[in-house]
Amino acid sequence: MRGNDEATKLMIKFTNLYKKYPNGHEALIRIHFHLKKGEMTFLTGHSGAGKSTFLNIAGSLEKATRGQAEVNGVDLMTIKRKALPAFRQRVGIVLQNPHLLPDKTAFENVSLPLIIAGFNKTETKKRVHAALDKVRLLSKGNFLAEELSTGEQQRIALARAIVNKPDLLLADEPTGNLDPDLAREIIQLFTEFNQVGTTVLIATHDIELIKTLPYRIIKIEAGRLVE
Ligand SMILES: Nc1ncnc2c1ncn2[C@@H]1O[C@H](COP(=O)(O)OP(=O)(O)O)[C@@H](O)[C@H]1O
Ligand SMILES: [Mg+2]
Repeated sequence: MRGNDEATKLMIKFTNLYKKYPNGHEALIRIHFHLKKGEMTFLTGHSGAGKSTFLNIAGSLEKATRGQAEVNGVDLMTIKRKALPAFRQRVGIVLQNPHLLPDKTAFENVSLPLIIAGFNKTETKKRVHAALDKVRLLSKGNFLAEELSTGEQQRIALARAIVNKPDLLLADEPTGNLDPDLAREIIQLFTEFNQVGTTVLIATHDIELIKTLPYRIIKIEAGRLVE
C-alpha cells in the first residue's frame, strides 16, 4: 500500500519535461514539478518565460516533446486521442480573456460543459445555479454575457470552469485584465474552490497580488524552474 501512496497523492507529476516548438524555440527545459492533490500553487515568471506552455501541457492542450507528464493519474505523453475528452472533462481551465458567448446569458454560458457532458435539464439547472452562487452571481444568471462587467465576465468563466466539478483547476493569467481589487476578488474565489478540495494551479506575472498569500509560489525563467 505504502509504495503507491506517493503516486496516488499527486495531481501533476512532471519529470524532466522538455518542450521545443516547431520553430526551434525551447520553451521548457528539464522541468521537475509535483503538485499534490488538494494543493493550490502559483506559477510566476516574466512574459515569455514558459508559463502558458507549462499550463497547456498540464491541461493536455499541448504535448511536451520529451520527458514524463502525468496528470490526474493519466500519462499525457502516451494518451490516445479518444481518451482526451474524458481527461479534459476532469480539468477546468480559465484564461485571461473569459471567452464567453456574448449573446448568450450567463446561465447558458455556464451550462455549456454540462450539455457537452450529457447532463439532463434538471441536473444542469441545479449545477449551474450552484456554480453561479459560488461566484456570487446568482442574481445575474439571466443577463447576457455582453451586459456584464469585465470582472463579472471573468467570474462567469470561473463558474463555467468549475460547474463540472473538475479535479484540477488551471488558470492562465486569470486576473490579467482586472484592476487590483477585482483581481483579489477572483483569487479569493480560487481559494474557496481549493478549500472544498479542488487542486488549483494559477499562472500569473503579478507578484504583488500573490506575495502575501499563504500558497506555494514557483518561478519559471526562460523555460527553467528556478525556485
Ligand atoms: N506556438 C509557438 N511556437 C513557437 N514559439 C512559441 C509558441 N508558443 C509560445 N512560444 C514561445 O515560447 C516561449 C514561452 O511562451 P509562453 O509559454 O507563452 O510564456 P508565458 O506564458 O510565460 O508568457 C516564448 O518565448 C514564446 O514566444
Ligand atoms: Mg502566458
